[in-house]
Amino acid sequence: MARIHSVNASARCSDPKAQIGSGCLQAGHGLVGDAHAGLSEREVSLLGIESVWRVNHEQGINAGPGSFAENLTTEGLDLLSLRLGDRLQVGEQALLEVVQIGKPPSDSHTYNYQGVSILPREGVFCRVLRGGPVAAGDNIAVLGGRTMRVACLIDNSVEPRSRYWGEHGLSFLLEVESQRLLLDTGASATILGHNLALRQVSPRDLHAVALSHGHRDHTGGLGLLLQAHPRLPLYAHPAVCEPRYSKRGDETHEIGMPPEIIAQVAQGELHTSRGPQEIVPGVWTTGEIVDRPEPEGRGAGHLVRRDGRMLPDPYIDDLSLVLRTERGLTLLCGCCHAGLLNTLEQVRRNFGAYPRVIAGGTHLVGSDAAGIAHVIARLQEIGVEALYPNHCTGQAAYVALATALGDSVHPCPAGTVLEV
Ligand SMILES: [Fe+2]
Ligand SMILES: [Fe+2]
Repeated sequence: MARIHSVNASARCSDPKAQIGSGCLQAGHGLVGDAHAGLSEREVSLLGIESVWRVNHEQGINAGPGSFAENLTTEGLDLLSLRLGDRLQVGEQALLEVVQIGKPPSDSHTYNYQGVSILPREGVFCRVLRGGPVAAGDNIAVLGGRTMRVACLIDNSVEPRSRYWGEHGLSFLLEVESQRLLLDTGASATILGHNLALRQVSPRDLHAVALSHGHRDHTGGLGLLLQAHPRLPLYAHPAVCEPRYSKRGDETHEIGMPPEIIAQVAQGELHTSRGPQEIVPGVWTTGEIVDRPEPEGRGAGHLVRRDGRMLPDPYIDDLSLVLRTERGLTLLCGCCHAGLLNTLEQVRRNFGAYPRVIAGGTHLVGSDAAGIAHVIARLQEIGVEALYPNHCTGQAAYVALATALGDSVHPCPAGTVLEV
């Protein structure tokens, strides 16, 4: 059985950590009294004593537990075999979740012991899901992580011979342990109601809804849910209700959230943030994609009305969902107007790794062949394992992705169910 070799803390981030024998892990904070607690999602750092012994031998130094600024020095646990989302039972009560393995080279890490720094390479970072005491000698066990079921509820196409109805819109149903959530609601109450019933889910069964952006093909079904469940928690960007339009020639159409639904939302429970929001454990919004060096997923003639003026829509409300399970990260996209590659970089920055699986609308529909080839090349570099593009991906992009990436690309019509 693996165990805690040492518990270590320091009053300042720049100090080596001293062995304190025992301490208290606090949920959402870290090791009570330690300088690194409460600073970020990387609440607690772990390093194997085997790594310390090895580097002492290799470098001729005499580091001890805490010398490399880890909070918990473990013994008998292969930390680098852990995966994001794995959960660790520490002692009788405390439960940790792995949120980052090592540190990317771009993250600053200045701490070293006699010029040697191994935490970025061999350390593991966790957050505290459930608090409790921790002491040297306590057992530490890998529980494995959670899995989630993701069903494509609404898409432009439906599974052959299925009873799902299709429309130009998107909605995913997530089942996370006993909780059910939606990403987006499709374009209409009719389709959403029909397809939810096929999955034997009523609006009152839903725990929350995340909105990828304000476009009507993603928000038009929301009224059905709020009628049945007015306080249904909603998660979105603060600009999700801005009026949006599509201009073609002389004609301008409203394509934002329908006004009657905006009125319902105003009476409800809307959680908005420009930063990532955790909806239930393991399910996050990406937050606003601020850095966009790569092409965006723009639609011709998309406008937003702001301060009485019509402007090209900057799609600042566009976000995606990140699911962290025992199998790694999954990215669920609505329309990805911020650009798929920009969104992937945001995931890596905020969640420590690129997603293993990508599903949803990738808005490559307006991209030319060179643009699609650029995205494919980057996906190959990143090593995405499975892609389920649908909705606004576009036929040409889907064919190009499937041709280049082969068996890792799958259709994702309404009725598709993924276990991630
Ligand atoms: Fe959209
Ligand atoms: Fe869309």
